[in-house]
Amino acid sequence: MKLTSKNLIELELKHGAHNYHPLPVVLKRGEDIFLWDVEDKKYYDFLSAYSAVNQGHCHPKIVSELITQSKTLTLTSRAFHNNVLGEYERFITEFFGYDKVLPMNTGVEGGETAIKLARKWAYNVKKIAKNKAKIIFVEGNFWGRTLGAISSSTDPSSTNGFGPFMPGYEIIPYNDIVALKKSFLDPNVAAIMIEPIQGEAGVIVPDDDYLKQAYELCKLNNILFIADEVQTGIGRTGKRLCCDYLGFKPDILILGKALSGGVFPVSAVLASDQIMLTIKPGEHGSTFGGNPIACKVAMAALKVIKDEKLDENAYIMGKRFREQIKKYTKDLPIVKEIRGKGLLNAIEIIDKNNKNTAWDICLRMSEYGLLAKPTHGNIIRFAPPLTIKKADLDSCISIIIKTLKEYNK
Ligand SMILES: Cc1ncc(COP(=O)(O)O)c(C=O)c1O
Repeated sequence: MKLTSKNLIELELKHGAHNYHPLPVVLKRGEDIFLWDVEDKKYYDFLSAYSAVNQGHCHPKIVSELITQSKTLTLTSRAFHNNVLGEYERFITEFFGYDKVLPMNTGVEGGETAIKLARKWAYNVKKIAKNKAKIIFVEGNFWGRTLGAISSSTDPSSTNGFGPFMPGYEIIPYNDIVALKKSFLDPNVAAIMIEPIQGEAGVIVPDDDYLKQAYELCKLNNILFIADEVQTGIGRTGKRLCCDYLGFKPDILILGKALSGGVFPVSAVLASDQIMLTIKPGEHGSTFGGNPIACKVAMAALKVIKDEKLDENAYIMGKRFREQIKKYTKDLPIVKEIRGKGLLNAIEIIDKNNKNTAWDICLRMSEYGLLAKPTHGNIIRFAPPLTIKKADLDSCISIIIKTLKEYNK
């Protein structure tokens, strides 16, 4: 018997943990910017698995590397060398202009790795006293769900009931250079870890000068600037990295998600020799990090971004998206703000009586064949694969505007 969407949702509810609240859509196939559900309804994907599928679903060049390598050698662990790792390490360090890479699997492991590196550097190079190193975070940050990550969170749904939390963190207001300057007065500060645009918080774009000034203050005070580009990187915001808009190179760069085009968990932390070589053999790692499939997949995923100029396309399509949505929704009181960079955008809804309007809008858009998801109640993120072309983008803009008009009460 063929199971329907309803059957499959019930199956998940009965046997799986209830740690997510998905839209009631059950997907079975993806190709480029499209997804199909089990009833064969076709959708535009405007989430891209939280920006992991920047290259489009099942990109043939990435999937082909995955298949070929998985028939040859999948995993050796780092107890031995493998014949792909070195080639990948050279490729990715040259691609982003760093001395060294440390391969991991998920974005949150990338964040953990970056913090461990910053702490080691603080003790070995900056000469901070043992166990005194401090990492600065900003309010609204999101970098995952481990205890290390939620310890820096200001979102009660991340933290409630999960204490106690990690010491050695300070959380300061976002986009506030005065607060940042004040926090940097402490000589025990090793690093600041920051997303150039806060994705999960609702696509919050800081002032142009904020990150540049923060970087300059890091240099002035011998503090490391860690950029969490897990969501903003790999072309998403219209440049290879979001930091490329600012003209500086973070001391530590964290990448994940689209580093594999969404086919496999792959993350990476990049840094200089001085920082990376503070971690010695046996002090950090992961069974799967740097496995041959991940290496092949990541090289293919980065080549696709470069060869198909997906960063440039994201820039152009993103600009059009914001311009068109602004133009056609300017008289809609329900729309509070449209913001973003490249193809990482959000529409903030005015939800007068807390009626879950953004959720309802997403449900209605899914009926019209477009999948997006609210974040933080009244904000809807719009992040299609970077392969989207003008004609499809315009069809999607029409769906979004039509839906917003229906809810404009
Ligand atoms: C900026 C940022 N960092 C880190 C992460 C964590 O990545 P993962 O879910 O792969 O652990 C996320 C996930 O959404 C993210 O948006």
